[in-house]
Amino acid sequence: MYTASEAYMNLLKNNEDWANKKVQDDPEYFSRLKDLQQPEFLWIGCSDSRVPANEITGTQPGEIFVHRNVANLVLNTDVNLLSVLEYSVNVLKVKHVIVCGHYGCGGVKAATTNHDHKIVLNMWLRNIKDVYRFHRDELEVLNEEQRVDRLVELNVEEQLKNLAKTSIIQRAWKQRQAPTLHGWVYSLGNGKVKSILDIVPGTEIDPLYTFDDL
Ligand code: CO
Repeated sequence: MYTASEAYMNLLKNNEDWANKKVQDDPEYFSRLKDLQQPEFLWIGCSDSRVPANEITGTQPGEIFVHRNVANLVLNTDVNLLSVLEYSVNVLKVKHVIVCGHYGCGGVKAATTNHDHKIVLNMWLRNIKDVYRFHRDELEVLNEEQRVDRLVELNVEEQLKNLAKTSIIQRAWKQRQAPTLHGWVYSLGNGKVKSILDIVPGTEIDPLYTFDDL
């Protein structure tokens, strides 16, 4: 017979307690949220369990639309990411898109090694190796820890630029002068976010990636 672990059973127990507490404090809490989702923010973050979007930004359910993957990548062939982007930008009409990396990111670290992580992860991490290649001179004079942390920052910048290359973002910029793109890096060591780069609507990007007939 299947016996659930105590840690697992605690999740369900905690949920019960949480739901009860919410209603106790505010009887309309769930009925209000059920019928309305109007987040102003899209969060693209790392899957790392130590970087929970709502908790570190002091926001509540309903305030942030979330997509997370290993090392917070924005890949133009990722149907999952693009679906989230399309929906949040064009239907929810978010005003801000935040790409949040974090220092000490295991995915970024793995991409700096020559280890075979097997086919699927190798495919995913290859994209970070490409970011490394663009900035090789700057990275290779650093020690190992500094190198990973700088690559974390450069990776966030690159993913932010990848967002600006999509027709989804370029069309929204043209039609409603939003969303603004924000690049953040979170520190696991002190819980603070460092703002790395903002790309405001209408920013000129490399003409190679600009759509002129949107
Ligand atoms: Co990570």
